[in-house]
Amino acid sequence: MKPKVKTTLIIGVCVLALLAAPAAAGMMSGGGMMDGGGMGGGGMGGGSGSSVIDPPAGAVFRDPANLTDTNPDPNVVEVNLDVKKAMINVNGVMANLFTYNGQFPGPTIWAKRGDTVKVHFTNSLPATTEKNILGFTRGITNLHTHGWHVSPEAPADDAHLATPPGGSYDYVYDHAFQESGTLNFYHAHSHGLVAEQHWGGLGGALVEADSAAEAAALAPYETHLLYLKDISLSGNAPTAYTSTMEYMNGKEGNTVMVNGQVNPVMTMRPGQVQRWRIVNGCNARFYRLSLQGHQLQVIGTDGGLLDKPYAQSEIILSPGERVDLLVKASATAGTFKLYSLPYNRGMMSSSAQITMMTVQVKGTKLDQPLPRTVNPTAVSMRGMDTSMMPKKTFTLSMSMGRGYINGQDFDVNPSTTMSTVGTYEVWTINNPTMMDHPFHQHVNPAQILSITGGDDKYRALYTTTPSWKDTIIVPKGGSVTMLVPVKDYTGMTMFHCHILEHEDIGMMGMWHIMDGGMPPM
Ligand code: C2O
Ligand code: CU
Ligand code: CU
Repeated sequence: MKPKVKTTLIIGVCVLALLAAPAAAGMMSGGGMMDGGGMGGGGMGGGSGSSVIDPPAGAVFRDPANLTDTNPDPNVVEVNLDVKKAMINVNGVMANLFTYNGQFPGPTIWAKRGDTVKVHFTNSLPATTEKNILGFTRGITNLHTHGWHVSPEAPADDAHLATPPGGSYDYVYDHAFQESGTLNFYHAHSHGLVAEQHWGGLGGALVEADSAAEAAALAPYETHLLYLKDISLSGNAPTAYTSTMEYMNGKEGNTVMVNGQVNPVMTMRPGQVQRWRIVNGCNARFYRLSLQGHQLQVIGTDGGLLDKPYAQSEIILSPGERVDLLVKASATAGTFKLYSLPYNRGMMSSSAQITMMTVQVKGTKLDQPLPRTVNPTAVSMRGMDTSMMPKKTFTLSMSMGRGYINGQDFDVNPSTTMSTVGTYEVWTINNPTMMDHPFHQHVNPAQILSITGGDDKYRALYTTTPSWKDTIIVPKGGSVTMLVPVKDYTGMTMFHCHILEHEDIGMMGMWHIMDGGMPPM
């Protein structure tokens, strides 16, 4: 309980510091960001749940661009990814963002199980000796493939790699064991720089093709990808990090976008079923998605597709989480808003009701049924006897501008855990702080056994369905217990809070996955 007392003290300071910051002042007055967005004030709900951000319906919805596979071999995906600054139209304002290939959001990379994926990665950020407020030299970056079950060692998903400005790296990933039908997410992972690069626009989707059975069930449905991202601009740049308080709180933007668009318009025919695959690409904003007059049918979660659709009235999505939905449009024409309803994640988070997208149901009726089965091989391991499995506990805490796991700050002495490949473990993550933390582990998705605290519907969805999660909300004052299969890959990887500011201030630990035949000396 000691960290809790400290956190309480900090909140008082937080309110003052944040309100005094110029960026916050701009946000509250609406600044120059009101054009067609009406977003002013939305970022500062302060947990009251009273503010409403309801921009007018925007342009026609568009999916993110797809990255071109340059390799003719059907089992090799070969793409070029260049990190660079580029001018991007953010709700009518041209802004200098961090981008992949000059695009925002980053272009989608498609692969399928069994592929070899090669990413020719280049860093075209300007060379600099400038440090950010955490003391890390800007300009360095790297690539993390969040959610991919691939090797955490070079040349694959090694988050320790660092490409300096002007440098390049050729990543190679083996998808022999990658679950089909998954929606994953690539982003920068150079510790200490992650939050500001991600805030500035670096992120994109990874789509793994459906298995034959999944494709048979889902092929009839028009499919779209929704990459959710918020941002605030100061002039023509993303607002800078100016205080450790912003790192404690996590930055939320006053412009909330779907694929870089404010309140785009999605068209559906009456009775049509569409598949929406959604990534929360924000640093710190949580969504509680709800479509007026409609149910959302969950068919997939971080680690794969579910056995069948699960009807939900709303979906909470924290940073780093993904969800795959089917939506059956109403039988009659009409206009419906996709809202993000207020959600209080704690501290200074926004808690506004935001109109994310407008769904226009019109045209000829198309009465598409929902599938009865989606993924016939979806598995639940919750029945397994866990009594003999190694048990691990990770406690998250924050204090004086730093984040900790089991009391250890990543920059000082990282909390380290060892596992043996080919085994199962039970992890409990405790959150005695006053804000929710989305806990994320690399390489291996887990099955959630129990959640204490937080939202009832969220808990029910993720503890009763055959869902696999690599990112799960550990509610303020609560805990999560999960079954972690340690499969296929050895190496040094990590787990951390996916409020990316928290990762940068130390709420990250090392996960050393060892070969069973080689006990540690
Ligand atoms: Cu999405 Cu270690 O991160
Ligand atoms: Cu990750
Ligand atoms: Cu956190």
